[in-house]
Order: sequence, then C-alpha cells, then structure tokens
Amino acid sequence: MTEKLTFSMQTVFQLNKIEKTCFGKEAWTVNNLVAEFNNEFSHLFGERVDGEIVGYACVRVMYEEAQICNVAVLPEFRRRGIATGLLNSIAELAKEQGCERCELEVNTANLPTVELYKKCGYEIAGTRPNFYRRSKRFPTRDAYTMIKKL
Ligand SMILES: CC(C)(COP(=O)(O)OP(=O)(O)OC[C@H]1O[C@@H](n2cnc3c(N)ncnc32)[C@H](O)[C@@H]1OP(=O)(O)O)[C@@H](O)C(=O)NCCC(=O)NCCS
Repeated sequence: MTEKLTFSMQTVFQLNKIEKTCFGKEAWTVNNLVAEFNNEFSHLFGERVDGEIVGYACVRVMYEEAQICNVAVLPEFRRRGIATGLLNSIAELAKEQGCERCELEVNTANLPTVELYKKCGYEIAGTRPNFYRRSKRFPTRDAYTMIKKL
C-alpha cells in the first residue's frame, strides 16, 4: 500500500537507488532528496515490498496547483499498479489541500509515462519545445504539459 514517506537517511538511500536505476545520469542525488524532504511544499509517497521502497513519487503543493516532480518504479516491479497507486495518493492529498489541479511535464517520447498519466485522468494541455536538457534517454527535448482537474 502507498504510504507518505517521512525523512530518514535510510529512506533517502532507497530513493536514490530508485533514482539511479530509473534515471541514470539525471538521477536526483542524495542531497537533492534531502532538500526535497526539507522543502515545506514537498510531499513524497512510496510503495514498499518486503520493507524495501520499490517505487516513489514526489509532488510540490503550491497553492492552487500540485506539481508532480517525479514518479519512478524499479523495473522488476512495473506493470502491477504501483505508479497508479502513487498518483492516486497524490491526487487525494492535493484535493485535501484545496488544489484545483495536478500538473506535470513529461518528455513527449516517454510513452509509458504519457500512457500512465492518461490512464490516471491527465490530459495533454500543451507542448514545451526544448524543455529538457539533452540526454541519452530520449531522442527529443520536448515536453508535454499534462493536467488533471480535481
Ligand atoms: C512510468 C512508470 C513510473 C510506470 O510505473 P508502473 O508502476 O509500471 O505503472 P502502472 O503499473 O501503475 O501502470 C499503469 C498504466 O500505465 C500504462 N503503462 C505503464 N507502463 C507502460 C509501458 N511500458 N508501455 C505502455 N503503457 C504503460 C498502462 O496503461 C498501465 O496500465 P496497464 O498495466 O493496465 O496496461 C515506470 O515505467 C517508470 O518508473 N519509468 C521510468 C521512470 C520515468 O520515466 N518516470 C516518469 C518521469 S518522472
């Protein structure tokens, strides 16, 4: 079951492992993750299997908008609804906090993630050309902005 994560260095190291596995060179560092736990706008959710966090998501709740920063699930635990559970928890929290919408950017070539968001009720609201830095993960730097009205 999805849980709201609280800060501990053990949790930070587990999230850093997920980051490195899922994002390679663009992974959030241990310092980035510690800063996120210290950010008053940020909330992190995780899913554990046998005590280990295998997927997590981060959202920054900024007044009327909940900005999703990251969603990542270790490859061997994918396609069993973990990311969907994380996004549902984020939408619930955002509603409780009075947000009007959840919003995010996703690389236009990151098709699994675009599909995930569509399935969770997000719609493509626009395209931002050259939004991302150049990387080996995707052939384009363009992002979709996707929005879910709450
Ligand atoms: C995107 C990601 C988070 C999905 O996690 P997940 O736990 O496997 O997602 P779910 O099991 O909840 O999938 C829900 C739906 O999303 C879609 N989806 C997920 N992975 C997909 C894939 N590889 N291809 C096509 N659709 C996919 C499907 O519609 C799926 O429903 P279904 O399994 O009933 O067909 C995971 O693949 C991942 O960590 N990717 C790398 C990190 C990343 O790029 N994160 C996003 C940018 S921050």
